[in-house]
Amino acid sequence: MLRTHTCGELSDSDIGKMVSLCGWVGSRRDHGNLIFIDLRDGYGITQVVFNPSLDKAVHGIAEALRPEYVVRIEGKVEPRPEGTQNLKIPTGKIEVAAKNVELFNKADTPPFEITDDVAVTEESRLKYRYLDLRRGIMQRNLRLRHKVCKAARDYFDSRSFLEVETPILTKSTPEGARDYLVPSRVNHGMFYALPQSPQLFKQILMVSSMDRYFQIAKCFRDEDLRADRQPEFTQFDIEMSFVTEEDIFEISEGLMKKLFKEAIGFDLKVPFSRLKYSEAVARFGCDKPDTRFSLELAEITDIVKDSSFKIFQDVVKKGGRIIAINAKGCASYSRGQIDELTEFVKGYGAKGLANFKCANGGLSSQIDKFFKAEELSSVMKTLSASDGDMIFIVADTKRIAYDSMSNLRKLLGKRLNLIDENKFNFLWITDFPLFQYNEEEKRWESEHHPFTSVHPEDVKLLEKGESMDRIRSRSYDLVINGTEIGSGSIRIHDRKMQELIFKTIGISETEAKLRFGFLLDAFRYGAPPHGGVAFGLDRLMTLFVRCESIRDVIAFPKTQKAFCPMTSAPSPVDEKQLNELGIKIKEAR
Ligand code: AMO
Repeated sequence: MLRTHTCGELSDSDIGKMVSLCGWVGSRRDHGNLIFIDLRDGYGITQVVFNPSLDKAVHGIAEALRPEYVVRIEGKVEPRPEGTQNLKIPTGKIEVAAKNVELFNKADTPPFEITDDVAVTEESRLKYRYLDLRRGIMQRNLRLRHKVCKAARDYFDSRSFLEVETPILTKSTPEGARDYLVPSRVNHGMFYALPQSPQLFKQILMVSSMDRYFQIAKCFRDEDLRADRQPEFTQFDIEMSFVTEEDIFEISEGLMKKLFKEAIGFDLKVPFSRLKYSEAVARFGCDKPDTRFSLELAEITDIVKDSSFKIFQDVVKKGGRIIAINAKGCASYSRGQIDELTEFVKGYGAKGLANFKCANGGLSSQIDKFFKAEELSSVMKTLSASDGDMIFIVADTKRIAYDSMSNLRKLLGKRLNLIDENKFNFLWITDFPLFQYNEEEKRWESEHHPFTSVHPEDVKLLEKGESMDRIRSRSYDLVINGTEIGSGSIRIHDRKMQELIFKTIGISETEAKLRFGFLLDAFRYGAPPHGGVAFGLDRLMTLFVRCESIRDVIAFPKTQKAFCPMTSAPSPVDEKQLNELGIKIKEAR
């Protein structure tokens, strides 16, 4: 090695030693004759001092050092003078008095300073990602990610899981997003799809008697991107044979316990709470509730359905829902504040936001004349409202009413400081509906994926094709603080049932053969009962490092437009390459 120590290593126990350090020049400060530089590498920062009385030539070189120059320093570890110690960093009690300096490389002036609280656009951070990753905070994020992966591998190994890699050039996996396609040169006119997940392969591994599979798997999905979505992301992917939900929960809870302990020293209590999907929607308006605060929703359709308020009447007539929330202590909200919340719910499709103030033991509102006294007192009772509270109401289709109110709930939770940021609330959501209705295509489709088992109590409904929206599945999600971290199900291992599901969601026999024929073929040779789950590693990491965007825990992520500013991918390709693939690009859209 060209160094004896890293820049994060030396302490007062090394005082008096001759050392050599390699790294990048951080800040430089001239104090009369003395020059100080912060020498930085991936491990930390060490202060180096150049004293002309020690070596004039070396001091001369130090004068020419600029940020991000790469150097090797030789010198003696000395205590920092009293009052100049920096106890915030591990090396803050010492400095290295430079006896020699070797310049490996100069550097252009960087487009931004390499500090933790860098104030530049994300576009610039991604363009110069190699500089962005030099920042201490990003170094810590990537090191922690490594530690989490290692802990997961150790855990899976200790529980007899086998790590198996599955192909990247493969066939479409039905996870609900668009595929990334790769044209084949050898098989003219044919395409591979990048896997949206290893779903089909992990099920085939169960047919192969692998029993317990895991993979730290890359997944690719062409979907609208958000802060918690990337076009390529990583899953801890699991599949097990001869299991029920309970086995998957136990293994998953053990994994989470280990990861939270090793990553952030947090002791998790297992087993996690469970909530049925229908109850989650009724109480919180969504299937990934943040249960760190209550502020629960209440459906008041039945209470106000006979009021003379036309908007409510119309919604009830059309089979919609009237959903309310009690914003505790918010009766003093101004017109402006209420208008802002109204605009907020409109963003989720709601047409308006009714409000009732609670004072003198009753409810008052611009629209209170449309309601009977019993109706208002029943609303008040249902929402446990008391003087000083404000009740907000949205009446709309079920989807819009719950969606807008669950988002309003989250906003109020933040505004009213109800969220304990030090808490981790783990929750299994179970009993999801098996199907959801696709309004555009006017057909039922799988809520999870079409290999998900039906709830045993609802098989009859499925066979009769009745009450499709009430048929439950054996799928489950793991939610932490309102974020969906994982998802899985007990799979179908019975060919007949699999065929019935395909038929129900409008996949013909021919299409099923074309798309998943290899899985159905495998099932003909003895498929064990099996099930699994996949956890989003990137999302987990955001919880560990407490950041908003998964881009901060991925070394080389893409922008919201699925673009990499550093490599400029995606980019045009040569005419020759296109010709080889037999592809012609149409006029630019
Ligand atoms: P699912 O599609 O729910 O299930 O994905 C599992 C978990 O992966 C994470 N995730 C994402 N993370 C970042 N960017 C994305 N675009 C993205 N999409 C999903 C989430 C999610 O909970 N094969 C099934 C699992 C199974 O049934 O075993 C699957 O992939 O944290």
